[in-house]
Amino acid sequence: MSFLSDTTAPAHPALLDAMARANAGAEASYGNDAISARVKARLREIFSTDLELVFTVSGTASNALALSVLCPGDSAVLCHDEAHIHRDERGAPEFFTGGAKLIPLKGDHARLDAETLAAALEEWPDDFVHTTPPAVLSLSNLTESGTAYDVERVSTLAGMARARGLAVHMDGARFANALAGLKCDPADLTWRAGVDVLSLGATKGGALAAEAVILFPSVMDRLGALKVRQKRAGHMLPKMRYVAAQFEAWLENGRWLELAAHANAMAARLAKGLAGVEGVTLAHPVDGNEVFANLPQTVQDRLEAAGIGVYQWTDGSFRLVTNWQTRAEDVDHLVNAARG
Ligand SMILES: Cc1ncc(COP(=O)(O)O)c(C=O)c1O
Repeated sequence: MSFLSDTTAPAHPALLDAMARANAGAEASYGNDAISARVKARLREIFSTDLELVFTVSGTASNALALSVLCPGDSAVLCHDEAHIHRDERGAPEFFTGGAKLIPLKGDHARLDAETLAAALEEWPDDFVHTTPPAVLSLSNLTESGTAYDVERVSTLAGMARARGLAVHMDGARFANALAGLKCDPADLTWRAGVDVLSLGATKGGALAAEAVILFPSVMDRLGALKVRQKRAGHMLPKMRYVAAQFEAWLENGRWLELAAHANAMAARLAKGLAGVEGVTLAHPVDGNEVFANLPQTVQDRLEAAGIGVYQWTDGSFRLVTNWQTRAEDVDHLVNAARG
């Protein structure tokens, strides 16, 4: 049992079984295999649109590659100050774009709002040689504070960005959790709302290592450039069929949303339990599988005594993450330990 991150969870057996089934006979290399083709077809159904994609094995690679085909090196990416691309990727987006600038913006619960975006667009014009013009707006859904951007907010922000000629990227490392929480259509939360590129993560949702960069129709012509960068970056896996196999099993019969809904339900249980512990308050709304709680020292000590590790976040709160395998009794164990 661990609440440190959803990446502490093992891979879901159905995904491992799919890899084992894929482990037979010869297959075309570098993403030209039959399973990859089936996943693309399935994603086209799920998102109700034509699309292109490449697979990677880390969210950082997905984000950096996605941004590299959206943002020229002399331009900028607007993002939240807490964004993974800004705080947690060791400059990979800057590196892969060839020097693009990340402009971090403020916003409650790691979410950008229309006023902040409007001010940033005004502050960073696209016709002044001395400043760096924004070319991309990047939104994380779930955000780094575990909150979700709903369809309306994505549409508003993406609409503003597009009106200024910016492309819109969504870091969907926990897109399934956002979607399961919002209970909305994947198309409505992405391309119909103005998202051009989605980094779709399966790793946190039950895969061993499977991520995808999805290009929606507005930018499908960047596929060639994306593949070149995927290759140059060393992310064009020769035996890509195994990554594709994980995706196929993850998406099969709605498994991705079921697993995410389970993790979300466990987070809701955890949030409710912790909120009932004296001195504990929640730092952010819980829209997915992450709970951020302000824990008094006594509670921190009790958790430590019980051998339960917690991760202190940049805002001083403690991040607790549930996953596809978290059991109700694990949650209750933590809450009881916190209660003392
Ligand atoms: C919001 C977000 N984006 C992307 C990632 C992907 O990171 P990694 O390169 O570790 O797969 C993470 C992982 O923690 C994340 O939380």
